[in-house]
Amino acid sequence: MITKEQLEKEKLPNHIAIIMDGNGRWARRKGNPRVFGHKNGVAAVRDTVEACAELGINYLTLYAFSTENWNRPRTEVDALMSLLLATINKETKTLLENNVQLRAIGDLDSLPRKVSRELKEAIDKTHGNTGLKLVLALSYSARWEIVNAVKNMVSEAGKGLISIDDIDVNNFNHYLTTKDIPDPELLIRTSGETRISNFLLWQLAYTEMYFTETLWPDFRREHLYAAIADYQCRERRFGKTSEQITDSVNSNS
Ligand code: IPE
Ligand code: IPE
Ligand code: MG
Repeated sequence: MITKEQLEKEKLPNHIAIIMDGNGRWARRKGNPRVFGHKNGVAAVRDTVEACAELGINYLTLYAFSTENWNRPRTEVDALMSLLLATINKETKTLLENNVQLRAIGDLDSLPRKVSRELKEAIDKTHGNTGLKLVLALSYSARWEIVNAVKNMVSEAGKGLISIDDIDVNNFNHYLTTKDIPDPELLIRTSGETRISNFLLWQLAYTEMYFTETLWPDFRREHLYAAIADYQCRERRFGKTSEQITDSVNSNS
């Protein structure tokens, strides 16, 4: 088991993104309805947030509900929205205690009014916190986000606010819901699935991927440490050769 002390403090990821998956299977394996898994997923969220705050990670993005998840049975969607409402309400205190700033990305207008109101309140209350930035991806889909960005750009170009020749990778970023958030260095997906499921397609261009069989309700800080330790062993080349990376590290030391 990897402990916090074994992690290299100067090589921690600045931004970790997590696809929290496997709640339904966790519940089913215990002979319970899927919603039982969602409820038990909250403890995993709490422990992960606390562990990231303690480690000094700057950004944690959690994929909590995708645009495609609206297509689940009505009872499950309703239960997820009620759980979200209750969790935001209950956990705001913990966020304040841990100096965590809450943010949200996604098509937030599509959330039930009660949920978006509670969310906005929690975002406002934690606005002044200077520690971990916790980003909830809610009713989020990367294709929606990219199309939305293109629409906004075209509209601004039509008004003469931007010129098509000025569009590049950097200013495209400004039209995404993650405009103030750096790209993740590490993506974790639980439950053994090895796909992206429409999450942060643009932002994950050079992210290191870590997949674990652990189902989300069982995920705890030791699993997070294992993912970070794995990330710290990797060589991130960004298209360069291994020699270029090693040489530049040696010349900087
Ligand atoms: C992830 O767990 C939670 C959400 C998508 C909201 P799932 O509900 O997808 O659980 P599995 O993948 O069916 O086990
Ligand atoms: C991805 O999980 C979305 C979230 C974790 C919120 P899903 O369970 O919805 O993804 P698929 O359907 O297995 O790809
Ligand atoms: Mg799933």
